[in-house]
Formats: sequence, C-alpha cells, structure tokens
Amino acid sequence: MINKIEFIAREAGRIIRQNFGKKHEIKYKSNLSDLVTETDKKSESLILEFINREFPGHSILSEESGFNNKTSEYLWVVDPLDGTTNFAHGLPIFSVSIAVLKNNETIYGVVYDVMRDVLYSAEKGSGVFANGKNIHVSKRSELKECMLVTGFPYDFTGKDSVFKMFESFLKKSRAVRRLGSAAIDCCLVAEGVFDGFWEATLFPWDVLAGKVIIEEAGGKVTDFNNDPLTLELKQFLGTNSLIHEKMLHVINST
Ligand code: IPD
Ligand code: CA
Ligand code: CA
Repeated sequence: MINKIEFIAREAGRIIRQNFGKKHEIKYKSNLSDLVTETDKKSESLILEFINREFPGHSILSEESGFNNKTSEYLWVVDPLDGTTNFAHGLPIFSVSIAVLKNNETIYGVVYDVMRDVLYSAEKGSGVFANGKNIHVSKRSELKECMLVTGFPYDFTGKDSVFKMFESFLKKSRAVRRLGSAAIDCCLVAEGVFDGFWEATLFPWDVLAGKVIIEEAGGKVTDFNNDPLTLELKQFLGTNSLIHEKMLHVINST
C-alpha cells in the first residue's frame, strides 16, 4: 500500500510542478489570506480518483472536498497542496500530504516536497525515509541551540497568544522560521534540520502524515496539553523529543 501512496503523491506533485509559475485562478475561502487555486483542485481530483479506483471502499477526508461519508476501517487524510499561498505567489515551498489511518491510528504518512523533489515516506513501526534514505531527528537538547519553525492562522481574531508564543520562542531559541507548509515543517523536524515545530490552528490534513513521519524518525508529537493528537486536532507540537517538555513549558507559560 505504501508504494501506491508514494506513487500518487509524486503524480500529484508532477501536476503541481507543471502549473507552478503560471497565472492562477485564485479563489478565497474564509478570508483574503485563505486561498485555493485550480491546481489545488486538480491535484485533489487526481488523488481522490486514484483512491476510489484502487481502494473503492475506503473513507477519505480531503481538504477541499471534505469527508466522503464511507464507513471503513481505513481513512485517507489528504492535503492536495500544502502551502497554497507560497504556490500562488511563486515561492517554491509546498507539498502533497497523504496520511492513511486504520481504526483511527495513523499507519502511513507520505509527504512529497514538490520543488526539492524529496519524498518522505513513513510506515508505522518501520522507520521513515527521504528518497529512500533513513532519516532521524536531531540530538539538540538546549533551546538556545535549536532552530524552530512555526506557522500562523489565516484569521488572528482573538489569537494574541500566537504572537506571544512567537516572541517567547524567538528569545529562547537560536532562530525561528516560518516556511508556509506545515507538512514540510514536520519533515524537516524528522530530518533534524528543525528541532521543533509548533502551530496553534491546524487541520488533520496539514499534519497527520507529518506526525507519523516525525514519530518514525524518533521524535515526539502531541497537542499543547501533551496529549496524543486526534482527528479533531488543532494544536500541534512536534519535536526531536529532547526539547518537548521545554517547548510545552514555553507554550503554556505565555
Ligand atoms: C497551510 C500551511 C501553513 C500553515 C497553515 C495551513 P494550506 O496549509 O500548512 O504552513 O501555517 O496553517 O493552513 O492552506 O496551504 O494547505
Ligand atoms: Ca494545508
Ligand atoms: Ca491545502
């Protein structure tokens, strides 16, 4: 099954790459910052048609089409283009993210970093690979030596804590970055480039593949209460595990 997930993630990436840099038909979702392009839709159609053909009974939850209302022990969670704002503005940082859950447990996670042409692929219990090479989280344990990454919500109303956390981590770590693709943020934690990634307002399609990718690389993933993620997730903290408690402390004291 992992080979099929990898195949369709790469195929969707190919469509996205072909459309990168071209003029886009942009539509707005919740507000003027929350975009969707025709390429998000093309990528999604390709992935959903593939799943429906290869695994007709499986449930699917996908960002632009929602839940397909099928009852199955298998659930595919799909973000057909993670990093739409980057894509629409010509910044080459975006990905395709596909997770597969069995009885609510994420068993496969695949993220394709389209422009770097790197495929991250994890199977629960079998490790994680970036273009076939085994990857691991970093070994840094002091926040002062760490490079962290975060993301911001499309709507800041009532979310002042987002800025306070950002300020605290800026002061306490070596550096904080904001790339604009939560799925890639997770992969770079798994690869040991970033030591931790936090974000307060996410959806399962942004990070469920990234969750198993981080865990299989030896890292830890929870919400801001240190509880395991569920399908209702919003908050996400993924780390090399060594700084998990320290990051939780900063998050919960701001
Ligand atoms: C977004 C990206 C971004 C994160 C946002 C997400 P989208 O996904 O992952 O990094 O900060 O919260 O919504 O809308 O480009 O698929
Ligand atoms: Ca996303
Ligand atoms: Ca998306």
